[in-house]
Amino acid sequence: MPLHLLQIAKKLAHDAGKMALEYQKKGFKVDTKGSHVNLVTEADKACNELIVSVIQKNFPDHSIISEEIPPIKGTSDYKWIIDPIDGTTNFAQGLPIFSISIAVIHKGVPIIGVVEVPGTGETFWAKQGEGAYLGKHRIHVSQTSELKNGLYATGLPYERGSARTEKTFKIYQAIHAQSRGVRRIGTSALDLAYLAAGRYDGYFEYDLEAWDIAAGKIIVEEAGGMVTNMDGSMLSPKKGTLLASNGLLHSKLMETIKKEGGLNV
Ligand code: IPD
Repeated sequence: MPLHLLQIAKKLAHDAGKMALEYQKKGFKVDTKGSHVNLVTEADKACNELIVSVIQKNFPDHSIISEEIPPIKGTSDYKWIIDPIDGTTNFAQGLPIFSISIAVIHKGVPIIGVVEVPGTGETFWAKQGEGAYLGKHRIHVSQTSELKNGLYATGLPYERGSARTEKTFKIYQAIHAQSRGVRRIGTSALDLAYLAAGRYDGYFEYDLEAWDIAAGKIIVEEAGGMVTNMDGSMLSPKKGTLLASNGLLHSKLMETIKKEGGLNV
């Protein structure tokens, strides 16, 4: 692995975060993509441009998948997966709860994940085989083993009224009834980073894209947690169902999701 890959990923996430905060202060244009609730702002595009231009300058042969542009196909075995602003709705509303998500994949294996949270100045990151960190400190998933002692997270698809949206509410209700609660903070990269740091004990969501989860997934796994499809099988983008946990609660969460009919929607 080029030695400086991690440093570059962290610097890009940090610089894009700074830029996003500046946009939040000065104001920005908001557009929609596909539906009136799926927003994209001038800041998403500017942060994307900042990140992608530096990657292309340093690694012209790397592939890039980013939420805001068509895929860039390179000739090397390295691929960057980027969400320049994860939590665009929060960002557009002026909330400080959004993140910059950058992952590097080598021959299909995630090797680096960085989730930068400009609103709190926190940087969650992980390098394959070397653990997960918040800034300079090693992080680990929680040791919670009973559903009732846990706090969980979810998110909702943009599509209103879809079967998966309705199912999310059902599962939400079932987990909420048995636990400390369920949060919907609006940025999946951060949901995964919080799980890695032991702030949440589990997380489920339908229809996430690679850029929402690539960085968070390696951070959770390096922190000792699990990220799978909702039925416990290896995470596959085609299924569009994600269950992440501290590992100890995985089967209990899976059971609840199954009981609510969450595996067949
Ligand atoms: C969204 C956030 C949100 C999740 C949505 C995602 P975006 O990403 O991660 O938490 O519930 O499914 O699309 O659009 O803000 O980058």
